[in-house]
Amino acid sequence: MTQHVIEITSPVFMEPTALAQCDSLDSLFAHKRPLALEIGCGTGDFIVQRARQFPDVNHIVIDIYNKGCLKTCKRVERYGLDNVRVIRIEARYLLSQFSDTEALRAVYINCPDPWPKKRHRRRRLVSRRFLTQLAHYLEPGGDLYFVTDVEDYALEVAMTLEEMPEFLNQLKAPMAYELDEYPISRYMRRFKEQNLPIHYIHRQLDPAAKLQRAHMPALELSFRCQQTETPHPDETQSCSNI
Ligand SMILES: C[S@@+](CC[C@H](N)C(=O)[O-])C[C@H]1O[C@@H](n2cnc3c(N)ncnc32)[C@H](O)[C@@H]1O
Repeated sequence: MTQHVIEITSPVFMEPTALAQCDSLDSLFAHKRPLALEIGCGTGDFIVQRARQFPDVNHIVIDIYNKGCLKTCKRVERYGLDNVRVIRIEARYLLSQFSDTEALRAVYINCPDPWPKKRHRRRRLVSRRFLTQLAHYLEPGGDLYFVTDVEDYALEVAMTLEEMPEFLNQLKAPMAYELDEYPISRYMRRFKEQNLPIHYIHRQLDPAAKLQRAHMPALELSFRCQQTETPHPDETQSCSNI
């Protein structure tokens, strides 16, 4: 199945090619500020709230879903936010474009595609390798948020992070069911309306961690790098159920 790609002309939308042409992500914004990244922004419900909570942080938000990017851009424009830029790009591919100097204040991953079938689990975005990559691009003390309705995905990520001492847990337990002042995304709202639990993970990169870029694992570029592909409905069960 392919996406019908609608052209996005919004001033907050950046073509992936803009990345190749710029020295650093800072240059995508009018003002230099700390940088945060949201992976899989969907329709932008989360980021417009977060960007208003933190006007002094620039937010790069990405999704492979063209219509989602379009809706996010419209939302960002409606709120007149100058601290958000939207790129239609695959997460691992984006990281592969990062330069050594990129440093993220925060990374948000809200309700990533669950790939509930066992044979598809390998397609899940967040793996040890992916977390290792993120660690290299987080600034010391930078925050990582991972939120999902899928218990086994949450457990998998929580257990992996337990084995990564560079990520300091910011919660009383490996995960929580509430997180104060954390905005609600579209999917989170719908799961909550169905009384389904949301699992929150919040870690911070240990400021004392000595990570060497030379030791960063090679990226496993995803099948999603072919950006025309959309998930089959029965493979994104917790998305299509809502
Ligand atoms: C289940 S939706 C959640 C959307 C939003 N975060 C929310 O909570 O409402 C997952 C989103 O992640 C996007 N996505 C999935 N895999 C991705 C990847 N590898 N890189 C970038 N975006 C991705 C999908 O297109 C989809 O919009």
